[in-house]
This record gives sequence, structure tokens and C-alpha cells, in this order.
Amino acid sequence: MGGNTARLFANAGHEVKLSFSRDPAKLETLSREIGARASTGSPAEAAAFGSVVLLSVAWGAIPEALASAGSLDGRIIIDTTNQFGSGEMPAEGQTAAAFNAARMTGARYTKAFNTLTSGFQAAAAGRTGEGRVVLFLCGDDAEAKDISWQD
Ligand SMILES: NC(=O)c1ccc[n+]([C@@H]2O[C@H](COP(=O)([O-])OP(=O)(O)OC[C@H]3O[C@@H](n4cnc5c(N)ncnc54)[C@H](OP(=O)(O)O)[C@@H]3O)[C@@H](O)[C@H]2O)c1
Repeated sequence: MGGNTARLFANAGHEVKLSFSRDPAKLETLSREIGARASTGSPAEAAAFGSVVLLSVAWGAIPEALASAGSLDGRIIIDTTNQFGSGEMPAEGQTAAAFNAARMTGARYTKAFNTLTSGFQAAAAGRTGEGRVVLFLCGDDAEAKDISWQD
């Protein structure tokens, strides 16, 4: 998901900074593949970079990712994560978005890219007209949603 979205954002003209891999060489390779608009950095550097931070890690790795990112105060987040696998889970009836927003107090939280597989998103992103597919975006911060969704 992170690699897909980074590639799509770069193709749309945005600068992207890739981070948070157990294998830094993998990130470097991905960055080179994406091209001149991509670079790599520490989680804290990535969290401070650009106008939007995309969080796309396994559910169980979220605490480590957030701890290594440092302060997200005022940062606009797009959270792609889904509550599968290990890690603390939302309470009965609580959404994953509400649960995760509470783990990022001070951040301007949005959630998106959740309902379609990464392979399908990569394949379908360029569709136009009636073939276009829908991606949902949610959050309580209207301006953060607008900025997250600008192309
Ligand atoms: N795949 C989908 O179709 C899809 C669709 C919608 C939403 N989502 C959600 O989006 C999030 C990312 O999904 P994904 O499929 O992109 O997952 P993924 O392929 O496992 O990617 C997770 C990334 O986190 C990195 N990472 C760093 N430390 C980690 C650790 N301790 N444990 C696990 N990963 C670590 C991994 O890098 P290294 O392996 O290089 O360390 C990897 O680049 C998940 O929460 C998933 O539920 C996935």
C-alpha cells in the first residue's frame, strides 16, 4: 500500500519520502524505481515531510511506527491500516478510525484506501469515466480531508 500510493502520488507530481522498513535497502530500491520525486528518510523525517503523512503498516506495527515518527502535532494523516492480526484492537462498536485517531492526539486524522486491495488500487488508479472506482475518505477535520484528497 505504501509503495503503491508513493508511486501514484509521485506520478501525480508530489514529492514523497519513504520510511519505516526493516530493510533500508528495499526502501532505497523502491525510491530509485519511483524516480526523482522520491527519497528516503527516518520515520521522524518522513513524518515532518510534506503536507500529508500516509501511515500504512501492519496493525501490530502501528505503535512502533508512531513511536518512531515522533510528534504528529498538526500533521495531516492518511491512515490506510485495517485491524487484522496482532496488536491492541478497537473496543466493541468502536471504529478503527476512532481507535487510531486517539493514538495520534494532535494529528489531523483522516482514514482512506481501506476498502480495496492494494493490487486492485494499483491497477485501477488510472481509470477514467464510467470505469472509475470509489475510494472512501473519512475524518472529522474537513480541511484535512480536502487536503488529503487534492490531486
Ligand atoms: N494490502 C491490501 O490490499 C490493503 C488494502 C487496504 C488496506 N490495507 C492495510 O494497510 C496497511 C498496510 O498494508 P500492506 O498490505 O501494504 O502491508 P505490508 O505489505 O506488510 O507493508 C507494511 C510495511 O510496514 C513495514 N514494516 C516496518 N516494520 C514492520 C514491522 N515490525 N512489522 C510489519 N511491517 C513492518 C514493512 O516493511 P518491511 O517488510 O520492508 O520491513 C512494509 O513496508 C495494513 O494495515 C493493511 O491492513 C492493506
